[in-house]
Amino acid sequence: MSTAGGGVGNGAAAGARFAAQTAYVTGAVGGIGSAIVRALAAEGAAVGLIDRDPEGGARLQDELQAAGHRVLYANADVQDFDACRAACDQLGAALGGADILVNNVGISPKTNGRALKVWEMPPKEWETVMAVNLNSVYYMAHLTTPHMVKQRRGRIINMSSVAGKAYCDIVAGHYAATKAALIGLTRHWAGELGEYGITVNGLAPGRIATPLLKSVPREINDAVAEITALRRLGTPEEVADACLFLASDQARFITGQVVDVAGGWLMT
Ligand SMILES: NC(=O)c1ccc[n+]([C@@H]2O[C@H](COP(=O)([O-])OP(=O)(O)OC[C@H]3O[C@@H](n4cnc5c(N)ncnc54)[C@H](O)[C@@H]3O)[C@@H](O)[C@H]2O)c1
Repeated sequence: MSTAGGGVGNGAAAGARFAAQTAYVTGAVGGIGSAIVRALAAEGAAVGLIDRDPEGGARLQDELQAAGHRVLYANADVQDFDACRAACDQLGAALGGADILVNNVGISPKTNGRALKVWEMPPKEWETVMAVNLNSVYYMAHLTTPHMVKQRRGRIINMSSVAGKAYCDIVAGHYAATKAALIGLTRHWAGELGEYGITVNGLAPGRIATPLLKSVPREINDAVAEITALRRLGTPEEVADACLFLASDQARFITGQVVDVAGGWLMT
């Protein structure tokens, strides 16, 4: 684990909805993750960026620090519990414990643009998707909830997918299984942590225009747009808006819910 770039920044952020709060975001450098990071920072949060892309992490950190935001990048492969712990220790020392945890990281491997069928799926690919999309969510919650329980306040937002709710032939079984598991975890942790003032909710994006989609031929994304009620793909900023709502005080009586941000695709 390493820190790229300079200091932590001075916190001269524009908005104030999350002033004096600290958020940790996994997969922070990607399409949706970076939109969530930018939105939280713009609203005054100190944001810890966890990702395994040191170049992208340094770039995003430096850009936001230069704009006066209090952000710090921690390099970690979230498949590894010790790497998650080291990242949380680093961010905790610099920014404080997480008031908000956004479990955003996720991968959806394809082979030649196609999701593998069950008989084609190598065990290694299955295990990697379980580790990144599911184990990391437990690791991060395990590491951050002691602080939330202690202060009797916290927000956890898990990034599921409509593919965790309905059959979607663009993704493979491993991805659907992990995204469905996040819905179960969201409900379970909501029940378990509610008495400590912690809400746990999820988001189920539909097709969102991010680098993740590049693994799929363009015609497939066009076809999804055609059968989406709003007739287009979503943007990372639209997912970030929903995430900030769930992280905010406006959502204080909402817990155990997974909100579709899908423009009316695969309505469940
Ligand atoms: N894009 C979509 O259409 C869509 C739809 C539904 C759900 N989602 C979910 O939204 C989340 C973000 O997706 P995205 O489209 O922004 O993806 P993305 O590919 O743009 O970003 C993923 C980020 O995670 C990081 N990452 C991957 N593996 C990692 C690991 N082992 N350790 C640390 N970091 C790792 C990558 O470096 C990257 O920065 C995912 O959970 C995804 O499943 C996306």
